[in-house]
Parts: sequence; structure tokens; C-alpha cells
Amino acid sequence: MKINSLKNADLTGKKVFVRADFNVPIENGVIQDDTRISATLPTINYLLEKNAKIILASHLGRPDGKKNEQDSLAPIAEYLEKKLLKTVTFLPDCIGDEIVKTISSAEEGTIFLLENTRFHTEEESNDPEFAKKLANLADIFVIDSFGTAHRKHASTYGIAEYLPAYAGLLMTREIDELSRIMTEPEHPFVLVLGGAKTETKIPLIKNLLKDADYILLGGGLANTFNAAKGYDMAKSLYEEDKIELAREIMLQAEMVNTQILTSEDAIVADDATDSAESIDLPINDIEGEMQALDIGIKTVHKYYNLIKDAKTIIWNGPMGLFEIEKFASGTRQIAKAIAANKSARTIIGGGDTIDAIKDAKLGFDEFTHVSTGGGAMLDFLGGNDLPGIDIIKA
Ligand code: 3PG
Repeated sequence: MKINSLKNADLTGKKVFVRADFNVPIENGVIQDDTRISATLPTINYLLEKNAKIILASHLGRPDGKKNEQDSLAPIAEYLEKKLLKTVTFLPDCIGDEIVKTISSAEEGTIFLLENTRFHTEEESNDPEFAKKLANLADIFVIDSFGTAHRKHASTYGIAEYLPAYAGLLMTREIDELSRIMTEPEHPFVLVLGGAKTETKIPLIKNLLKDADYILLGGGLANTFNAAKGYDMAKSLYEEDKIELAREIMLQAEMVNTQILTSEDAIVADDATDSAESIDLPINDIEGEMQALDIGIKTVHKYYNLIKDAKTIIWNGPMGLFEIEKFASGTRQIAKAIAANKSARTIIGGGDTIDAIKDAKLGFDEFTHVSTGGGAMLDFLGGNDLPGIDIIKA
């Protein structure tokens, strides 16, 4: 895919509006996970080298157009100052005459961070007037928020009606890595998918079904597929209304010779807590009040053997309820197995999966690429057109 890269833009003396994805967990003003923020630093540093005036924008949370302290981007400005060792001027809104004046009168090389774009309802409705007001702040638009590329909002899409649009360095890297894995996957190609919701993974499974050699399932997703195979999943988390869809997908997989593997055994308990009694049981033996909360040891071994010989691996979604120590082992072992395969291209994505990597004490550099996109990565690998990418296609 050919895109307009920031590297091809004439930035001399320009005001550059950078849409970042600073939608990160913040508790009491303290940033809990800075992955997405630090991933945007190369773009900011590049613009600093070019002496551009930098106007950073992002959403945070889902405030539905209502300004509130909890969803303010103010803590991000402080964080950026520490990382960049430069003043980052936080502005109390993202549009308005005062904001335009402040930015226009600043020197080149100044960095601004605008307040949460979603404090205006017009952001999510992609209101053209609002998009124009955002565009009035700058000469050039740079989209570096891969995590929001699936959203057709004013600051991720509409603004490009009024300004020349370029891909930031993070956006470029995401598109390069994910496109490459889709167009030239080396075999064996293994997809490792988990998490609770079948729906979000279906486009990806369908799109990569004929290219993948193995699809290894865990978490609620595996429970739904196991239920589709006719197993009694008892009180486990699974989606009754997706069973038919799971059956269809298994049939399609058979037709293209792709193996979909579900957990053969699971760590089960009748309560999802650390104090619950748990046992590793074959899927066939699950009954009554039991819940499958992690993949079992046999399944881990089977998955491990396929992961170790793979040349391409995509992983999205934990194998169980890894937030609870008792049910964390399967996810941890799969994370370690993927990291240990240094001859494969390994692509990891999704907020929970990133948390799982951290839980397993693995660094991001253990993988070929850790995507900052959750829904955006799934949509991209699902073969969908993403609005935030359409605007930068060359
Ligand atoms: C994300 O966290 O996936 C992105 O920042 C998009 O956020 P949203 O789902 O609230 O649009």
C-alpha cells in the first residue's frame, strides 16, 4: 500500500496538527501504561528536528461530548515534557479563537497539546464545521493514531478535507508491518486468538483463513468453538448466539485445509477467583457449575509445538482469565513461546495482549512488532478499509 509519508512533506515553518492516540489508562492523574504515548515520540522528535510547530491532539475515553477532569489530557502533557525534555504547552480546548491566536503567535519548534477532542460531540459525528475549526489551527495534518484508524471522526478523518494529510512514523510502521504479514506470510503461519468476543475476531479469521496454516484458540473464543463442536461448556464464558457462526467457520477452514485448534483441556473452577479450587480437566469432562478459565497443560504443549516451528505468528487475545494468578499460566506460556521463536515474524496486538506480555515480564523488543491498535488492528487484518488510512493513501 502506498501512503503519503510525513517524510515527503515540506515542513519548513509549518504548523503541523498531529492526531495521536493518547487514549491510555490514567488513574488519579497517573498514567498506567505509556505504550501508545511513547510510540508517538519518533514522530514528535522528527517534527522537532524540522523545527515545525507541533499541535498534538487526541481523544481520551468516551466522555460523550462532556468536559470532565478524569478524561483531561493534562497528565499527558506532563508526561511528554519529561520524555522530550521540552516544554509542552497544554491548551484548555481544541478549537476557538484564543487557541488559534496562541498557536499562531508561538515560535517554531513549540509543542502544544490540545484538550480531549471528544469533549465536543462534533468530534465523533465528524461534523464538517468542527473539522474545519481543527484544520484552522494548522497547515498540515499528520495522522499518527493507528489505534483510531477505524474511526471516522473529525480529528481522524474529516480534517483531511481541509488540510494535506500525511502518515506519521508510527502509522507508517503499523501499515508496513501489518501489510507485510498479510501479503507475504512465510509458512507455517499461525494465528493465536483468544479473548472473550467472537464477533471482533471473525473478520480477521475469515480474511486470513486461507493463508493461515493453524488457528489456535483460547479464552472465551475457544469455549464458543468448543460449544460448536458439541461439548458442554457448562458455566464457562461462551457466546451461544455465535455457535452457528463458529460451525460455519470450522467448515470453511476444512475446505481450505486450515486447522482450527480449540483447547483439549482447561483449568476449570466453579468460581473465577484466586481462592477457588481449580483442576486441569479434558474439555469432555466439563459439567455442572464448572467454568473453563485457562487452557490446560496438554493444550499448552500442543500450541507450543506449533508456535515453535512457525515462521509467521499473529497473536491477539489472552488464553484465559490471566488477570487472576491462578488462571494466568496458559497465557504466560503462550506469550513466552511466541517470544522464544526468533526465526518467525511475530505480530502482537490488542490492549489485553499487551498487558499479558507485561504480565509475562517480556519486553516489546522480543517481538517483531507490537501494534498500538486494538480494534484498528483487527479491522486492518480483517481486510477492511480504514477511514484513517484512506485519507493518506497515495
Ligand atoms: C482504542 O483504545 O482502541 C482507540 O483509542 C479507540 O478508542 P475508541 O474505541 O473509544 O474509539
